[in-house]
Amino acid sequence: MKAAAALRAASRPVLRTETPILEFLLPCFSQTPFSVRNASITTSSSPPSTEPSPSSLNSRTSAKRHGALSAEQQQFLDSALRVNQAGELAATLIYTSQTPPLLRTHPHLRTLMSHMHAQEAGHFSTFNRLLAHHRIRPTAMYPIWSLASSFLGWSTGLMGREAAMACTEAVETEIGQHYNGQVRVLLGWVKEMEERGEEVGDEVRELVATLKRIRDEELEHLDEAVSEGAREARPYELLNRVVRGGCRGAIWVSERV
Ligand SMILES: [Fe+2]
Ligand SMILES: [Fe+2]
Repeated sequence: MKAAAALRAASRPVLRTETPILEFLLPCFSQTPFSVRNASITTSSSPPSTEPSPSSLNSRTSAKRHGALSAEQQQFLDSALRVNQAGELAATLIYTSQTPPLLRTHPHLRTLMSHMHAQEAGHFSTFNRLLAHHRIRPTAMYPIWSLASSFLGWSTGLMGREAAMACTEAVETEIGQHYNGQVRVLLGWVKEMEERGEEVGDEVRELVATLKRIRDEELEHLDEAVSEGAREARPYELLNRVVRGGCRGAIWVSERV
């Protein structure tokens, strides 16, 4: 299935422009909050989704034995889903901006870059749907993250294969840990509900499964980046620290704003 996805992704056109600086700016205009809203609106005509339904995570009126989420838990979910959407927006834009300069010098990376981009686009779409279902607003930092992630992708793409892969390794390390944290929290809720003898809705379990699947795909990207020479980047330590620090800062801000 992954091979099929890679083949489909490999056939996608890659954003190209004759003027390198435009490579950095163009993706920003293709992923605006407006485009997210449009994507959300169209979810009703999309194929049936396996994502949690709107009523499931927020419902407080289910049968007595059905576990309901507290206000604090709902606040956690709002914040978590908002950050996840912002993170996937950034990941999509990083790969979009990185690909043109990178492929000019390393055309053999086309299939890998297209595959990773296609998976990020799928993640982004998943969180767009979840935000629309639960009526959660995107982060107010959306335009800033769009510019910052496009610049990060474009600049590391220009620096070469090792720097681009070091960027991917750093981002995916932080994002993998981030999703792991969310999975742990949700599994804790499930355990508490089970101990109280409450029914855990399928939707909560589905959300856990979705987060685990996405986390695993992020960790695959991390492994691919290491295989493609991430640790040969110079200066590797500096790149790794700067990108990981930036990711942690962006997560912290997006949870609050
Ligand atoms: Fe992702
Ligand atoms: Fe990823």
